[in-house]
Amino acid sequence: MAASAPLIDRHGRAISYLRVSVTDRCDLRCRYCMAEQMTFLPKAAMMELDEIATIAERFIARGVRKVRLSGGEPLVRRGIAGLARRLGTHIGAGLDELTLTTNGTRLADHAATLFEAGIRRVNVSLDSRDPEAFRYITRHGELDRVLAGIFAARDAGLAVKINMVALAGLNEHEIAPMLAWCGEHGFDLSLIETMPLGHIDEDRADRFVPLTRVFEALAAEIELVRDVHRSGGPARYWRTPWGTRLGLISPLTANFCDGCNRVRLTTEGKLYMCLGHDDQVDLKAALRTGGLPALDAAIDAALAAKPARHDFAIRAGAAPAVERHMNATGG
Ligand code: 5AD
Ligand code: SF4
Repeated sequence: MAASAPLIDRHGRAISYLRVSVTDRCDLRCRYCMAEQMTFLPKAAMMELDEIATIAERFIARGVRKVRLSGGEPLVRRGIAGLARRLGTHIGAGLDELTLTTNGTRLADHAATLFEAGIRRVNVSLDSRDPEAFRYITRHGELDRVLAGIFAARDAGLAVKINMVALAGLNEHEIAPMLAWCGEHGFDLSLIETMPLGHIDEDRADRFVPLTRVFEALAAEIELVRDVHRSGGPARYWRTPWGTRLGLISPLTANFCDGCNRVRLTTEGKLYMCLGHDDQVDLKAALRTGGLPALDAAIDAALAAKPARHDFAIRAGAAPAVERHMNATGG
């Protein structure tokens, strides 16, 4: 298989975006994401950073134009700066953009290094600006550290997008103030519907907020202008009066899988073609046993098996769509 063979899946979608979970570990335990007692991968099962880089570079050689480092919490993995620097050398030479999704707890320490590596945009999870609610949702997170991380990122020259999972009874009332706060500081805001990924200690149905409802309430108060920008994901965007962007990631109430342009690599080296399905291909095994030709063949097999769409549903008492939590697959 020639390295230049384009990445087209069996539904005709061009794959241009790779998300990489560099660790499944996290220093927080957000209630909608994880159970309090989580079992993480044994260290021996994790890929070396060099293997992650090799696989990402293969995707870049074959047409991926955007790579996002994620987790778990990517900044808890030792050596992450070196990985970012290595992948950053491809920016402008095949790669358009290298980005990072983080919970922000260690962002203040890493912001300058990430910028030097070529990263220009980060997504930071911030589900509440109330210290007590923040601690409750994350099970022990310190709001001040995350806020310090967010402002350090901005000061280092990184554009910040805030990710907020809408949670009934926990942060729904904070959404409009969060949008204004983001606007005042120049941050984009993406609202996310809670997705049925992995078992947690509560029933997601109790916290689910349809973003259709949120949007109606926001649009009644604030002028929101539809923005055609599309990231090839499940998000739709609007311009806010502050000039920032509001994104709605609503996999439950609006399905946009037909435009999906992404695949996800886990720390273990498995490539998942969809968040909501168990189909995966073991790229680490292919690379270790057969080098780059085997890797290419495994990537081709993955594309041929990419599901058409997820079938998420949030119903009281219903089992998750998949057993994997978001931290395994990468957000
Ligand atoms: N449903 C929706 N969003 C989730 N995230 C983590 N787990 C879930 C879930 N089950 C969010 C994180 C992060 C983003 C990448 O995904 O809060 O902001
Ligand atoms: Fe960690 Fe992100 Fe999951 Fe929270 S949502 S527990 S920060 S991986």
